[in-house]
Amino acid sequence: IMCKAMNRSFISVIAGGFGIAAPKGDEVDHGEHREVDAETVADMLAGASTVVITPGYGMAVAQAQYPVAELTQKLRDRGVDVRFGIHPVAGRLPGHMNVLLAEAKVPYDIVLEMDEVNDDLASTDVVLVIGANDTVNPAAAEDPSSPIAGMPVLKVWEAENVVVFKRSMASGYAGVQNPLFFRDNAQMLFGDAKERVDDILRAL
Ligand code: TAP
Repeated sequence: IMCKAMNRSFISVIAGGFGIAAPKGDEVDHGEHREVDAETVADMLAGASTVVITPGYGMAVAQAQYPVAELTQKLRDRGVDVRFGIHPVAGRLPGHMNVLLAEAKVPYDIVLEMDEVNDDLASTDVVLVIGANDTVNPAAAEDPSSPIAGMPVLKVWEAENVVVFKRSMASGYAGVQNPLFFRDNAQMLFGDAKERVDDILRAL
């Protein structure tokens, strides 16, 4: 264990990290994560009444806004209430997510700010986290020793089911592990976000 910790601090120093020792949160054993496939997510969405999509930097990388817009339309046509929750610093530029969603013609009135959806997440059936990480990290709200403690976040973990679209268990911009990925109500849908959303569209 000693070796592992030393190794991590060393990596954090040579990589520039935060300029501090490995964050305490990264030493915590969060247990196992669970994986899900696109077909199962399609079934989950087909049975949902309320869906919130919280996009992040990975949606921009994957250019997933187009299939995300198509999925939104398809679900709305079936009577599902679909809304977006946009964190103020999601992505890498102010308004990054709003620009991408507008480009893909997602209706403006369902693209809401974090504060407008946060209180509704506890009564949401399914949250789709599309390439977001730091902006949905419960450690910011719950772990005072976390390097991002106090940062306002989207409380996606309060929803009934959370599906996290990303390619791996890697951390986001802040380099902090995300305990959301290990929650009982969270499942990982690994791969490029655009490819996975396309898979869901085919299965719906
Ligand atoms: P991040 O925390 O940066 O996480 C993005 C996640 O997207 C990564 O963990 C990555 O995981 C995933 N990803 C990358 N490519 C993908 C792909 N092709 N398909 C699927 N997933 C992919 O994102 P966020 O939640 O948007 O948070 C933004 C961060 O940037 C915050 O820390 C914020 O402070 C910072 N920041 C924001 C701004 C502004 S103004 N928006 C400016 C500078 C910095 P994998 O590698 O596992 O795929």
